[in-house]
Amino acid sequence: MANILCIGAGYVGGPTMAVIARHCPEHRVVVVDINEERIAAWQSDQLPIYEPGLEEIVFSIRDKNLFFSTETNRHIAEADIIFVSVNTPTKTFGQGAGKAADLQYWEKTARQILENSTSAKIVVEKSTLPVRTAEAMEYILNSNDKGLFFDIVSNPEFLAEGTAIPDMENPDRVLIGGRETPSGQQAIRTIADIYAHWVPSANIVTMNLWSSELSKLTANAFLAQRISSINAIANLCEKTEADATEVAHAIGKDKRIGPHFLRASIGFGGSCFKKDILNLVYLCEYYGLEQVAGYWEQVVKMNEYQKASFVSRMISAMFNSVAGKRIALFGVAFKADTSDTRESPALDVCRALLEEQAIVVISDPHALENARLDLKDVADKVIFEPDPYAAAKEAHAIAVLTEWSLFKELDYKTIHDAMIKPAFLFDGRNILDHKKLYETGFNVYPLGKPAQTHFTR
Ligand SMILES: NC(=O)c1ccc[n+]([C@@H]2O[C@H](COP(=O)([O-])OP(=O)(O)OC[C@H]3O[C@@H](n4cnc5c(N)ncnc54)[C@H](O)[C@@H]3O)[C@@H](O)[C@H]2O)c1
Repeated sequence: MANILCIGAGYVGGPTMAVIARHCPEHRVVVVDINEERIAAWQSDQLPIYEPGLEEIVFSIRDKNLFFSTETNRHIAEADIIFVSVNTPTKTFGQGAGKAADLQYWEKTARQILENSTSAKIVVEKSTLPVRTAEAMEYILNSNDKGLFFDIVSNPEFLAEGTAIPDMENPDRVLIGGRETPSGQQAIRTIADIYAHWVPSANIVTMNLWSSELSKLTANAFLAQRISSINAIANLCEKTEADATEVAHAIGKDKRIGPHFLRASIGFGGSCFKKDILNLVYLCEYYGLEQVAGYWEQVVKMNEYQKASFVSRMISAMFNSVAGKRIALFGVAFKADTSDTRESPALDVCRALLEEQAIVVISDPHALENARLDLKDVADKVIFEPDPYAAAKEAHAIAVLTEWSLFKELDYKTIHDAMIKPAFLFDGRNILDHKKLYETGFNVYPLGKPAQTHFTR
C-alpha cells in the first residue's frame, strides 16, 4: 500500500487521481487544494468540474480510497508519492511577462513539501512545465539539512478536457521521465507500476527527465499548429469557393498527415495550448533561437487572427453593422463536454461583438457559470440564457461557437420563425446541416466554405 498525494484538485488533479484510485484499490489517494470551495465541491454531490463519466467514478470510491482535503501539510507528511498538479499560468509581470511560465505556485509547493516532510518521497511533475524545471526542483528539495532525498519524476498529463476519463482509462501513452541513477530508475518503476494496473506496458514510455518535460510542450505545440494550419487554409477557402471540410478530408487520407485535428473552427482555446506554446517560444528565445521562437509564435498569432476574422465576416455579412442587434452565441465552453471557458474563443467573439455595440446573449448547457466570472467586467451588457430557443428569440443572428451535440438537435424551423429577418447563422464549428438551414430560410455562413444566402447580389 502506498500513500499517494496530489497537490492541486483542478481539471487534471481531480480526474487523474480518481482514475488512479479506481484502478489501485490497495493505494490510498488524497487530493488537496488551497481552494477550500473547490475541495468542498469535490466532497459534495455537485463536483467542481463537468467531465463525462467523472461523477460515476468519484461517487463510487470517494471516502474509500479517494479523499479530498485542504490539510496539505498533514498529507504531505504521510505521503510516499506526491503528484504536483498545480496551475502554471503564463507570467504577467517582470521578465518573460506574457510568455514565460509563472512558476511561483510550483516553487511554493516544492518548499511546502520540503518543510512538511520527515521521510524520503517521490515527487511527480504532473503540471506542464518548462524543460529543465526538474533541475530547479532537485536543488530546492535536496538542499536540505534533514538528510532527506527526493526523486523527481516527470509524468506529464495528455488528457483532453471533455474526454478526460476515456483518455485516462485508455491512454495513447503514459510518459515517465526520470534520472538515469539507480534511485531515479527505481522511482520511474514505482510510478510505472501504478499505471501498469490498467495500461499495457507497451504504452508506458520511459525516458530522461528533459525529454519528458519537452515532449509535453511539443505535443501541445504540434496539436495547436494543426488547428492553425487548417484555419489558415479555411481563410483561403472562403475567398476561393473551396471547402475546408473537403480539403481536410482530401489531405487527411494521406497516411503521413492523418485525419485527426483537421477541423476548421473559430480557433483553439483552453488553458493549455496558448500558454504552452508561448512557454516554448520563451524557452527558444532564452536559448537564443530567435527563428525557432518566431516559427512557433506564428501558431498563436494565426489563432488570434482566426477569431478576429470570424467576427469581421459576421459584421460584413450583417450589412456592416451589428450595433443594437441581438446576437445569440451558441456555446461558450472552449470545447464540447466541458464547463471550462479558459481562453475560450467564444469569449473573444463576445467581447468583439460588444465593442460593436451588439446585444449579446450567450447560451451553453454547462459553462454559463464560468462565463459569468470571465465576463464580469461586462456582465451588465451580456445576457446569459440557458435555453437556446429563448436566446435566439428576436435575434438577428446565431453564431455557433462550441460543438455541443445539443445544438445539432435543435428545431431550427421554430428558432427561425422567432428571429428577426433576414436571419443569419454563422457556424463557427461546422456542426450543423447547412443546406437544411438554408432551405429553412437562414442565411448560412459555414466556416471555410462558401456562404449560402438568399440575397441576390
Ligand atoms: N486542463 C487540462 O486539460 C490539462 C491537460 C494536461 C496538462 N495540464 C496541466 O496541468 C496543470 C494543472 O492544470 P489544471 O487545468 O488542472 O489547472 P487548475 O487551475 O484547474 O487546477 C490547479 C489547482 O491547483 C491549486 N493550487 C495552486 N497552488 C496550490 C498550492 N500551493 N497548494 C495546493 N493547491 C494549489 C489551485 O487552487 C487549483 O485548484 C497545468 O500545468 C496544466 O498546464 C492541464
